[in-house]
Amino acid sequence: MAVKVAVLASGRGSNFKALLESIKSGKCDAQVRVLITNNPDAPAIAIAKQAGIPVEIVQGKDFPDRESMDERIRALLDKSGAEIVVLAGYMLLIKGKKLLESYRHRIINIHPALLPAFPGADAQKQAFDYGAKISGLTIHFVDESLDAGPIIHQEAIDISLCRSADEAAKKILEREHEAYAKVVDSFAKGKYVVEGRRVRYVPAR
Ligand code: GAR
Repeated sequence: MAVKVAVLASGRGSNFKALLESIKSGKCDAQVRVLITNNPDAPAIAIAKQAGIPVEIVQGKDFPDRESMDERIRALLDKSGAEIVVLAGYMLLIKGKKLLESYRHRIINIHPALLPAFPGADAQKQAFDYGAKISGLTIHFVDESLDAGPIIHQEAIDISLCRSADEAAKKILEREHEAYAKVVDSFAKGKYVVEGRRVRYVPAR
């Protein structure tokens, strides 16, 4: 059965768009129930509207602190009936304790580097500037840490021939689009068991 998904995005939304395309083409068995964004100018909003997906804007400026902002997000997630929450270029840390607790091991993020190398912003530029020959992508569960939750999936990507950080980012992004949709699909076909830092996939029978 299709996995019910909520997407959180802050910007361009190319991972969100790729996910929707993959669903449409039948490659990913998921249903996106809501897009939540902290950025009223995010191009991701137009992508959602075009696909008939409800959009909720939740901005920090409307709340006294991050805990109450994330409580609003939690209420919207509950209302949407989402089973998993997909962060697709959501550039805020989730700080709400209750949100993290209620959706423990159900919030996933994609990061454009091979974690634990190059966490945080501009990971592709960090890797390129460091002179790394191999970088990659990581899909992981979100917890209280910055880009350090249990790892679901990783792919190594050769950036040795890239001539700029932008070129490396582009190469990684193409792979992100495919990998993220595959991981989302895997939630429809089984479940992930988290044992400490290790994540094990158990396919449904
Ligand atoms: C993607 O490269 C994603 O991996 C990255 O932001 C970009 C969003 O692009 N996320 C992070 O760096 C999270 N730490 P998109 O809006 O086109 O999907």
